[in-house]
Amino acid sequence: MLTDDGGRLGPLASGTALPGAAREEGPCTVSRWSDATQERAREFISRYPEKKSAVMPLLYLAMAEEGHLTNEGMEEVADWCGMTPAQVQSVASFYTMYKREKTGRYLISCCTSISCMLSGGDDVLHAVEDRSGVPHGETDEEGFLSVEHVECIGACGGAPAVQVNYELIEGVTPDKARDLVDWLRKARPEVVNTDEMQELFGGKRSFDWAIPEVLGATGPYPAFQPLGTADREGQG
Ligand code: FES
Repeated sequence: MLTDDGGRLGPLASGTALPGAAREEGPCTVSRWSDATQERAREFISRYPEKKSAVMPLLYLAMAEEGHLTNEGMEEVADWCGMTPAQVQSVASFYTMYKREKTGRYLISCCTSISCMLSGGDDVLHAVEDRSGVPHGETDEEGFLSVEHVECIGACGGAPAVQVNYELIEGVTPDKARDLVDWLRKARPEVVNTDEMQELFGGKRSFDWAIPEVLGATGPYPAFQPLGTADREGQG
């Protein structure tokens, strides 16, 4: 556990020194991250007048680097951002998209908040759970599928809404939800794309999105193209 005074658990493992990114006060540390991730971290930080403002994108980098968010990952973010580990943990623990446990290759998130609940969101969730054999909050043994129910994902007009690796599908029925699970298991798409999944498994959309969404996501980490957290060549 992180100490509540913001102290660290112990020394970080050996790695590359953080050039110019160590805390202004306190111990200078080394980085566990790959050179590419460090480069992204430096780039993100350069976009803000204060480096602590980059804490959220850096948390996604930490999550992508290790497959989930670890204490060590938060300590590293703290070093990059000039914050204490406890401050970083307080940010990370507020948002459910920062995963402390490994998720499967595909993360299916079913909204069960009010609009979706009134439109059959619970039935969609149960269909996903039954078909996949994975209950809410769990991952199958293969590390392939994770299932969760989530609060409003901002698609109330197209309820019930589902995401796969944070790519949105609106107007999902229980039958289509079962088809979605079957498709993921069979097709094992390298990239999941909201437009494609909407076409295959969606129904009513909240509005006409007009501009095609071309990128999609390669893993259960938010693939914010402007932030470069996607791990696909050319997407970041
Ligand atoms: S309540 Fe489900 S998207 Fe808003």
